Amino acid sequence: MSITNRVTRMLGVEKPIVQAPMGWIARSQLASAVSNAGGMGIIETSSGELDAVRIEIEKMRDLTDKPFGVNIAQAFVRDPKIVDFVIDQGVKFVSTSAGNPTKHTADLKAAGLTVFHVVPTLKGAMKAVEAGVDGLIVEGGEGGGFKNPDEVASMVLLPLVRSKVDVPIIAAGGFVDGAGMAAAFALGAEGIQMGTRMVSSLESPVHQNWKDAIVSAAETDTLMLNRRHSPALRVMRTEKTSGLEYSEENVMGTFGSLLDLYFGGDMEASIALTGQVAGRIDAVRPVADILDDIMSEFHDTLSGLADTYLA
Ligand SMILES: Cc1cc2nc3c(=O)[nH]c(=O)nc-3n(C[C@H](O)[C@H](O)[C@H](O)COP(=O)(O)O)c2cc1C
Repeated sequence: MSITNRVTRMLGVEKPIVQAPMGWIARSQLASAVSNAGGMGIIETSSGELDAVRIEIEKMRDLTDKPFGVNIAQAFVRDPKIVDFVIDQGVKFVSTSAGNPTKHTADLKAAGLTVFHVVPTLKGAMKAVEAGVDGLIVEGGEGGGFKNPDEVASMVLLPLVRSKVDVPIIAAGGFVDGAGMAAAFALGAEGIQMGTRMVSSLESPVHQNWKDAIVSAAETDTLMLNRRHSPALRVMRTEKTSGLEYSEENVMGTFGSLLDLYFGGDMEASIALTGQVAGRIDAVRPVADILDDIMSEFHDTLSGLADTYLA
């Protein structure tokens, strides 16, 4: 099942479903599964490991002939040549996040790339549109990862941004199924981006312990850290993160050994960035099944609503 709208046309995909960029996780194994399933696979640069990222992009050319994109998480990539690096990789789609949209948009667009910027507020959305982005990724505070300390839920943010801008919107934060996608579309989105669902997919490279923690999580099992600083973070509730929840200190220095958590499975070794939607995920599933089910549930939701309310 495919859809034609501004997002699928601009990204060159059959399904308007984007896999979130995630440091170390959004590499070729996961991203190629998403692209091959008809969605948009994204390769991260937030790890800062650009040599490894270059190799992952080479691998993508072997693993898929479908489109994929790259993310520039501006706060985390210190290499001043990041824009040249991304342009040199020959991808057509880039999402920019965690930074000022005026910084890279003009250069990326001049090189022919399609640029979507991640925004957590209406003010951020207006600034990105002014900077000339092609579209927005509107990210609600229920999503996993780095967040604006003054977080706003997708339910409020999406229709607000939609009412003020004309560019296409990809909704992020809290999405996991076709009913959620239909809700996002009703509020003005033309695509969805998923992080937590993708971390817990079969093709995700993270340790099984993190996937199991997501599968067994309740909707209340994430918390926000670093609200008094920026960025804030939505993370899995563990002993370590519960202890940091009300800390006045900037927790950015207390990450510990991230890779021991991500790939070693020690959930107390670091901080597992995870969204509230973990509470709705009850199995580790292949990416292709996830995307197929979302598309058919999306269709069933819309036709069910039409049958009930427009008959
Ligand atoms: C483990 C993890 C790492 C993330 N890293 C990044 C990143 O490098 N760049 C970025 O723009 N967003 C990052 N995010 C945010 C996601 O891109 C996405 O917008 C968010 O996860 C959506 O909410 P969801 O978790 O409810 O699907 C990350 C999220 C998670 C869960």
